[in-house]
Amino acid sequence: MADVTFDYQNLLEVEGGLTERELEELSPRLREAVDGLLDGRPGFMRLPRTREYLDASLEVAERVRSSGATDFVHVGIGGSALGPMALHRALSHPFYNLIPDRGGPRLHFAENADPTTLSGILDVIEPEGTWVNVVTKSGSTAETMANFLVIRGALAKALGDFGYQSRTVATTDPEKGFLKRIADREDLSTLPIPPDVGGRFSVLSPVGLLPAAVAGLDAEALLAGAARCVEEVEERRDEHPAVAGAAMHYLMDTSRGRNIRVMMVYADALERLAAWFVQLWAESLGKDGKGSTPHGAVGTTDQHSQLQLYMEGPQDKVIEIVEVGRPPRDVEIPGAYEDLEGVGYLSGHTVGELLGVECDATRRALTEAGRPNDTIRLGSLSEENLGYLMQALEVQTAVAGALYGVNPYDQPGVEAGKRITYRRMGRPGY
Ligand code: PA5
Repeated sequence: MADVTFDYQNLLEVEGGLTERELEELSPRLREAVDGLLDGRPGFMRLPRTREYLDASLEVAERVRSSGATDFVHVGIGGSALGPMALHRALSHPFYNLIPDRGGPRLHFAENADPTTLSGILDVIEPEGTWVNVVTKSGSTAETMANFLVIRGALAKALGDFGYQSRTVATTDPEKGFLKRIADREDLSTLPIPPDVGGRFSVLSPVGLLPAAVAGLDAEALLAGAARCVEEVEERRDEHPAVAGAAMHYLMDTSRGRNIRVMMVYADALERLAAWFVQLWAESLGKDGKGSTPHGAVGTTDQHSQLQLYMEGPQDKVIEIVEVGRPPRDVEIPGAYEDLEGVGYLSGHTVGELLGVECDATRRALTEAGRPNDTIRLGSLSEENLGYLMQALEVQTAVAGALYGVNPYDQPGVEAGKRITYRRMGRPGY
């Protein structure tokens, strides 16, 4: 059973917070937004109950793992990378490539078009044991195809064409696009990105399921958590906390001028989750001159970097704390220097306790300073909880799209730069 809760009390009770009346006034539109989402059933709402993508992903993952693979390179960018990276960072060992604790190959993400990172990946992989998973829904994103061509070239050189082909997976639109054509031509293994699921909403499709399963994570539990979220949204509709949160963040932006939403995660393991959410919220809602600016932060680290601004800077932010009830592991602080009062007091506590106390202290300090904040609490870092949370944040973003009156599923603003890039790089037709 997923254990994820949302606490919005400090958006209401803080000085200048939202009022019940404002929320009531917005509630007909909120109901309409969630009804529209449930009636329209965009592709991402169907993923948690679609067994077919899970089975296909598990089958490929099993082939990778049983082949004795040493390395698995996931090539993709934006929605084709951030979700899988978030899951891997949240649920695998923090130094997974040194300690692949669930018996899978090392995992590498070739995301940016950065020659230094890409060369670094080429330095560490063992070509004889490497699989490559090229992930692009459109089938022609320049960064992804460039990275793929480089890795493909290195593997083909070491293994010959056949060796490379049998260890390549193309995760893409099942019907169209250049990657689909390459896969057909070279008889590559393929996994589908459903045509009605946009990149940033695709983490629970093979985009996220395959790398999760390759690393030995429980992909089935991820979907079970997400399915639980969908069920609860169906039951509770505008009273579901993720849906209610869409209204609160919308009002904080449009009626309080708080147009920055900081997701401050109190776990290093959730740092990539914040990056995933930043893309989801920004690319879905930032259009027609609307949208609030998402920003990721990590507690306690950023208490020593950004908290001063959050406490005393412009009143333009909402801080969303994400905390974990039970860290997967805790570390006791040994006794030493007990005669020095500025150090000795730590003895006998745990590092997890310090993290939790600092998180709570930050929340209280923000509230007392009249800085609106809310909290998302995960009982633990588990596949089920991550699946639930990611689905809930997708629901929230889609509902917020309806409140803002924008289409959350397109991204027309990024096309202009792509066209200029294609022209300058010599792509025919541009
Ligand atoms: O959310 C989106 O649609 C985008 O961020 C895409 O995921 C990103 O541009 C990569 O696109 P593609 O999967 O087609 O390579």
